[in-house]
Amino acid sequence: MNEEKTTALHIGLDWSGASAGPVLAIETSCDETAVAILSADGAVLAERVLSQFADHAPFGGVVPEIAARAHLSHLPAMAAATLQDAGLRADDLAAVAATTGPGLIGGLLVGAGFGKGLALAAGRPFIAVNHLEGHALTARLPGLTPSGAGFPYLLLLLSGGHCQCVRVEGVGRYRRLGGTIDDAVGEAFDKVAKLLGLPLPGGPALERLALSGDSRRHGFPRPLLGRPGCDFSFSGLKTAVAQLVATLPPGAMEPRMCADIAASFQAAAAEVLADRAAHALAMAPDATCLVVAGGVAANQTIRQALAEAGKRHGVPMVAPPLRYCGDNAVMIGWAAIERLRLGLATEGLEVRPQPRWPIGTSAAYQNVTSQSAF
Ligand code: KG4
Ligand code: ZN
Repeated sequence: MNEEKTTALHIGLDWSGASAGPVLAIETSCDETAVAILSADGAVLAERVLSQFADHAPFGGVVPEIAARAHLSHLPAMAAATLQDAGLRADDLAAVAATTGPGLIGGLLVGAGFGKGLALAAGRPFIAVNHLEGHALTARLPGLTPSGAGFPYLLLLLSGGHCQCVRVEGVGRYRRLGGTIDDAVGEAFDKVAKLLGLPLPGGPALERLALSGDSRRHGFPRPLLGRPGCDFSFSGLKTAVAQLVATLPPGAMEPRMCADIAASFQAAAAEVLADRAAHALAMAPDATCLVVAGGVAANQTIRQALAEAGKRHGVPMVAPPLRYCGDNAVMIGWAAIERLRLGLATEGLEVRPQPRWPIGTSAAYQNVTSQSAF
């Protein structure tokens, strides 16, 4: 029954023929409101990203209700402006795509609702896109790397909410090799940044501070280092930093100390990630490259550690340019195009946004499972 339901949702858009054309994509799963328009061959015609850091800063973290309201305030004008930037009207679009999960449900409802409305008004299909698949396929965006990431490749998805290692076998074909057993690596960066009194977003602020620090001053733990498999753990590392900060005498958290803690934490995280990547590469010996994606992929120390791990296994590391590491709508548009080309796109008008949606499962994942529960 689940199979039938899923199949019925697939659309028969002939992407190789006359209907191939620009796709407008929307990303609203967390605290970035983003819109992009890509041509059928993946060229970025226009893109806009609005970060909500200032809205959430007084609360020390992303407040889902504030995020949803901000998406609602900004998305319509941003979509109109992006169309204008590209010199297009809604009628010129071949499809509208939006992230429908995983993510914060309020933002997903805003993005998907707006996207569905635009698609209906323009008489075009609405494509439901998995946020993680967006990150996973970004490395294949034309022009990003000289040869593009060819299947199969090993993906390290490192963001604020996700930390997993996936063998990408093809569009829609993902084999999860491991993941975090507690915190995501970006979450650990954000929490340590908060302990150091840094502003949001924590990860980039911590990286900047670490530049002037001594990474050997504190020997923080390297959780799961050398263990079989490629699961991750960052909670113990984060707690070790918290315990050090808690035991320091008043006034000890001066700039030099903070920079040394930041650099030592970052070195520990990078070493663990490189070790886990090496294990994953051994589990996927046919991988053509090691792709690193998600917000944390912007970190230069981590990129370097992963590039070295890849080199030891004879594979190049491929990382998107910095602006496509964090959340953006280009990756959503590209994932939609990859699916459209293969006839795998999922008509999203019936798809409900879902906070949990594991990569590689159908867009009807939760819709079907929740229906079958009744
Ligand atoms: O992919 P992303 O934009 O959103 C999620 O899907 O989570 O990732 C955001 C995460 C945050 O935890 C942020 O602190 C982290 O990526 N991040 C970084 C850096 N830039 C962003 N972490 C370490 N170093 C960076 N340069
Ligand atoms: Zn993300």
